[in-house]
Amino acid sequence: MKPAEAQIEVSNYWTRRAAAFDGVASHVAQAALWRDVLSAAFEAKEAKDVVDLGTGTGACALIAASLGHRVRACDGSEGMLAAARQAATAAGLDVAFEHALIADASFAPGSADIVTLRNVLWTLPDPMAALRKAYLVLRPGGQVLVSDGLWSTAAQYRSTYPETLAASLPRHDGLTEDEARTMLADAGFGPARSWQHLFPASPYPGDVPMFVLTARKG
Ligand SMILES: C[S@@+](CC[C@H](N)C(=O)[O-])C[C@H]1O[C@@H](n2cnc3c(N)ncnc32)[C@H](O)[C@@H]1O
Repeated sequence: MKPAEAQIEVSNYWTRRAAAFDGVASHVAQAALWRDVLSAAFEAKEAKDVVDLGTGTGACALIAASLGHRVRACDGSEGMLAAARQAATAAGLDVAFEHALIADASFAPGSADIVTLRNVLWTLPDPMAALRKAYLVLRPGGQVLVSDGLWSTAAQYRSTYPETLAASLPRHDGLTEDEARTMLADAGFGPARSWQHLFPASPYPGDVPMFVLTARKG
């Protein structure tokens, strides 16, 4: 399957799942824990410009906004974004959502202090391109926050993508922390720092190996 076709299938898949996503996503159920970890990992003493790539229903973007940051976010799935917009309105939080693929999103180069990608790299036809986009959008000294896991190790988190789609996604099984560190370095970022130890227990019941890494643009 060609990357462009895979991307359309991915967006359609998430639009079909959007209505139920917040009910099953453990990071939504554990929003308070995630808020503490993101707050620490952002290392921000004042309001920052945050961009959330592949925001989905906006869980990460909303946490960033609730911490007082100025947040922009994009997603390729209109259905997921509709849920994100609704959630922002319900919470009284201001997030500028854009319906766009990461590659096409209009965020200006050098316009962000923090870029987040949570549970997105595994589902991209070209995850390195997304990290390079994060690098481009960041100001010098800004930091990317990447979180993902080795989803293939636990039945309850394994994706239900059709086989042909799964086969066309290089990280469909998920990522280890070491693999993510290598990818961040390859995208030009400085040394990565891990934050998952701040969770008192795994945020994904079933002990899926997961990581939260930040790394700075030099
Ligand atoms: C597993 S969800 C994670 C959502 C969110 N980041 C979170 O932590 O809840 C993956 C999301 O990535 C989005 N996505 C996949 N490929 C994308 C792309 N190339 N550009 C933008 N969004 C994309 C999907 O539409 C979906 O909403």
